Amino acid sequence: MEANKMAENKPTLTLITGADKGIGFETAMSLAKLGHPILLGSRNRERGQEAVNRIRNAGYHADLLVLDVTNPDDIQRAKKTVTENTGYLDILINNAGIALDNHEDAATLSTDTIRKEFDVNFFGTVSMIQAFIPLLKKSKSGKIINVSSNMGSLGLASDPHSRFYNVSSLGYQSSKAAVNFATITFAKELADTNITVNSVNPGWTATGFGGRDTNQPAPAGMQSVQEGAQQIIKLASDARNNLNGTFTENDGILPW
Ligand SMILES: NC(=O)c1ccc[n+]([C@@H]2O[C@H](COP(=O)([O-])OP(=O)(O)OC[C@H]3O[C@@H](n4cnc5c(N)ncnc54)[C@H](OP(=O)(O)O)[C@@H]3O)[C@@H](O)[C@H]2O)c1
Repeated sequence: MEANKMAENKPTLTLITGADKGIGFETAMSLAKLGHPILLGSRNRERGQEAVNRIRNAGYHADLLVLDVTNPDDIQRAKKTVTENTGYLDILINNAGIALDNHEDAATLSTDTIRKEFDVNFFGTVSMIQAFIPLLKKSKSGKIINVSSNMGSLGLASDPHSRFYNVSSLGYQSSKAAVNFATITFAKELADTNITVNSVNPGWTATGFGGRDTNQPAPAGMQSVQEGAQQIIKLASDARNNLNGTFTENDGILPW
């Protein structure tokens, strides 16, 4: 049997990185409820297992992949596990991300900090895509969803009328701009295959991202985690899979 025939009529196998909490976990639980078996990526085994148990206890399907996206051994082990267990992957959601430069001036921001952000946000995303393309090609309808940010939009950052014009977090912003470039590049390179590649901006969301204390009330304008995960879930669950090379959020298309 051809490999992509093997994937036909199977539930939509979905791997999400950094899914033990925040937007990643919300996406995992919501897609599990929609019938997707979840491969829940977490770099922390205990927290990852707890997250898997929450999904299983709710009556849905999830398995843990201990996966630090900056660790090539972890990525290869995850690829081997999926290859041996199913032989295909339908959706890869590159959600793992960090922000370490808290609006520091670019003039004094440590390049070590910028490198750490690129390691997770950009190189982690690219490494995962490169590793999982062969398995995604064996899906009937493959998707790569890169969780980016409006902070990485060059169009918004350079628009004097945008609220992002005066925002400066060089490491985080440029790493997410690079993620968007990866989206464009892979979308074109894979255009003749069964795989689509898109970027999504969750928007400003009430998670612990960037060290925010989740016990504190969300400031005005900050979205719920459900709202933050909405566009990712919409793209992941769209059976048509007819968008390729886009950058979207809940309100529609964003400028690159
Ligand atoms: N929250 C927002 O306002 C916002 C806005 C725009 C975009 N985003 C993007 O949304 C995504 C999810 O963020 P979130 O708000 O849900 O933040 P979060 O609650 O901090 O979750 C981030 C997840 O990424 C994981 N992670 C970090 N480094 C990793 C690595 N090297 N390997 C694997 N996993 C790693 C974290 O694991 P640990 O628990 O081990 O640290 C955590 O599970 C990020 O890509 C972020 O850039 C967020």
